[in-house]
Amino acid sequence: MARLDVTEVFHGISYPGHLHTQDSLHHALKFPFQDTDVLIVSYPKSGTTWMQEIVTLISSRGDPHLSQSSPNWTRAPWLEQYYCADLLKSSTSTPRVLTTHLPHDLLGPALQESKARIIYVSRNPKDVLVSFYHFHKMANFLPDPGSFPEFLHQFLEGTLHFGSWFDHIKGWTSQAAALNLFFLYTYNFTNLVSSFLQRPLLEHELNNCVKHCSFSCMKDNKMINYSLIPDEILDHSKGCFMRKGEIGDWKNMFTGEQNRYFDTVFKSKMQDCILKLVWEK
Ligand code: A3P
Repeated sequence: MARLDVTEVFHGISYPGHLHTQDSLHHALKFPFQDTDVLIVSYPKSGTTWMQEIVTLISSRGDPHLSQSSPNWTRAPWLEQYYCADLLKSSTSTPRVLTTHLPHDLLGPALQESKARIIYVSRNPKDVLVSFYHFHKMANFLPDPGSFPEFLHQFLEGTLHFGSWFDHIKGWTSQAAALNLFFLYTYNFTNLVSSFLQRPLLEHELNNCVKHCSFSCMKDNKMINYSLIPDEILDHSKGCFMRKGEIGDWKNMFTGEQNRYFDTVFKSKMQDCILKLVWEK
């Protein structure tokens, strides 16, 4: 299937143009946040979809009706994608749940003075890279990933779509004290999110949330597993969005040499950063 060659470059970062336009990206930068908003922030392939499901289920106190009847991009739309503004006009849900992959230096000004609750979802970058590589193979709206060594190099250089993982995580976490921001690394954390959102749950409600946002449930839920997206955009014959959902899968892909290259770049770029990342099970 032919790739959709539509790249939109915005402030030096490339974005897939079938969903991002100059207008929608500019609109995101001036977005009028409300203090009740919940904003899920992540670099792609860090567990964004998982968090969209967790927040939906916490809001519904573990009742899966909404998460099984409405696609994730309608209940937690990406701020920077073209359909977001219209969708919000017709939405009455409170709190509004929004998602973004934008870096802090672009979105920070719109969030200044805002009390919106921000959940930053992170994942160790070796698993992000492997997940992103496989996703590029099936996502026709992204460039051909080429070979794994080439892709790894581009990831470390920060030249892939959505920009540099290093800049993204450092930009957002360095501003945590100034924002109502909660930093999470992918783990079992549903109860922490419900505390942050000030939505305490009864034990059975929490258990329902955990059950419905498990990898196996999400893999079978067409409202969250992206099977509704047509093959021209997401070629389902080349892979699955809910691929493995494992911590440490990078070990199946990296050679010893690639691992040393990655570690050297990671060390030099992250030397001032004291982040807790989970690299293996
Ligand atoms: P893999 O490709 O490693 O399987 P995003 O939503 O940010 O694009 O991230 C997608 C990644 O999150 C995929 O990783 C996907 O399988 C994983 N994921 C989604 N839901 C998950 C869940 N409930 N448990 C574990 N991993 C999950």
